[in-house]
Amino acid sequence: MNLNSEESSSGSETTLAQVRGVLDLDLPGPTISRHVYGHFAEHLGHCIYGGFFVGEDSSLPNEGGIRLDVVEALKALDIPNLRWPGGCFADEYHWQNGVGPREQRPTMVNSHWGDVVEDNSFGTHEFMALCELLGAEPYISANVGSGTVQEMSDWVEYLTRADDSPMARLRRQNGREEPWSVRFWGLGNEPWGCGGGMRAEFYADLANQFGTYSRDHGENRLYRIAAGAADADYRWTEALMAGLGHKLGGGTTRRHGRHPYQAISFHYYTVPGPWQHKGSATQFDREEYYRTLHQAQRLRGILAGHAAVMDAYDPERQVGLVLDEWGTWFDVEPGTNPGFLFQQNTLRDALVAGVHFDAFHDHAERLVMANIAQTVNVLQAMILTDGEALVLTPSYHVFEMNKDHQDAQRLRLALGEVPSRGEGEAQVDTVSASASSKHGAVLVSLTNLDADEPVEVVLDLRGGSVGTPVGRLLTAPSMAAHNTPANPDEVHPGALRDVRVEDGRLVVRLPAHSFATVRLPVLD
Ligand code: AHR
Repeated sequence: MNLNSEESSSGSETTLAQVRGVLDLDLPGPTISRHVYGHFAEHLGHCIYGGFFVGEDSSLPNEGGIRLDVVEALKALDIPNLRWPGGCFADEYHWQNGVGPREQRPTMVNSHWGDVVEDNSFGTHEFMALCELLGAEPYISANVGSGTVQEMSDWVEYLTRADDSPMARLRRQNGREEPWSVRFWGLGNEPWGCGGGMRAEFYADLANQFGTYSRDHGENRLYRIAAGAADADYRWTEALMAGLGHKLGGGTTRRHGRHPYQAISFHYYTVPGPWQHKGSATQFDREEYYRTLHQAQRLRGILAGHAAVMDAYDPERQVGLVLDEWGTWFDVEPGTNPGFLFQQNTLRDALVAGVHFDAFHDHAERLVMANIAQTVNVLQAMILTDGEALVLTPSYHVFEMNKDHQDAQRLRLALGEVPSRGEGEAQVDTVSASASSKHGAVLVSLTNLDADEPVEVVLDLRGGSVGTPVGRLLTAPSMAAHNTPANPDEVHPGALRDVRVEDGRLVVRLPAHSFATVRLPVLD
């Protein structure tokens, strides 16, 4: 551990760890796609029903059945895109059952999630209305596992075609005159698992087939995302790159036309324990705390692994990398339906989010999109609802505090020696950081993962000068602190007081287990 500065508190001498680094203000890197701050809403538990959608007859304020308090809260996050209808659900969803008069829509069994009956009252038009209310771009995952090529092709036509084609006519009959603009389309989900148990090469052929017959209508240019690997399965990514006709070392065997898919996804969840006992979202000790953050920090290496495979086949970076499911996955809350994946969200989850965003920013060259799983009431949620009650989670606050990284230019931020902490093999680097610049201001994000000790971060500011820093801090006395309807502000951002710029250095003191942002106006 690097203990090279000292402070005294309450008369007793204690040591304060210091981490030094360099922030280059005049070396802007690539743009951080706003879409790495994307979201995911599946027909799972109370994400859609009860979370986003309560129906028009609800006593809760709603527009067309969409819950307005949830929309209002999410608007503060500037959500760039929303993925729907799954997840695993996407590969058993038949979109035509979710359009037309609600009372005539067929029901189905949601066999993946709780074996409940889905009434299809939230379908394509409701989803598009939700995206419009949120100001988010839709990202629709089509059914490759149990659907047909024609079904996906028709869905694209239904949503995006302007003339009198059969699907455009059907859309008009269902009340929508103008086509929507829908760029992002997923070609199935987890085809190696719930999406059909396929081999990578077999799925690559299917992705080519589904992608080929999903057409650009009018001005709407599709950005098709092939369903990718679990975690560090780089072989899957390689099969999809080869499936596109890309050759090792660059070049392509494809003779004409656009690629049938423009991006390849993968999924990575932070799961601290074995699948049968992942651990509680709120009851955890130091060992579990560090194990969780260790798992979260693995993401950086996994991103690098997928990016390296893609670089080998596509040095010009024509194909995007998408992480369309990420977040913590703990045991469900006691007494809740195991198929509904409802978990509380603590300060630990917020730190997981901070670590992920730093890794996303570092991989801005290749990573074009990422989607938190999931936005409301499922896994690492932004919002938890209970009837009328609505609670913003600690993770929500990280998304809000970090939102100005969206479409900003990444700045080079290099840390020197960072102390590591942990238990056994689950060691973590205790400080994580990233920075970007937009509209004449720099945003620095800093996470102190140390469970017990504060840290002082000192960054040499090179290549420019800055004005007065404004800091915000998210922390709480306990790493397990969380918000509830009775205590909704237990974890809430406040002002970061221990921040200053002196002698060309940014000096920040971060309390134990905390996340902070610092805004620095750049002076001409
Ligand atoms: O987000 C929950 C589930 O996790 C998704 O449906 C699936 O894609 C993944 O396994």
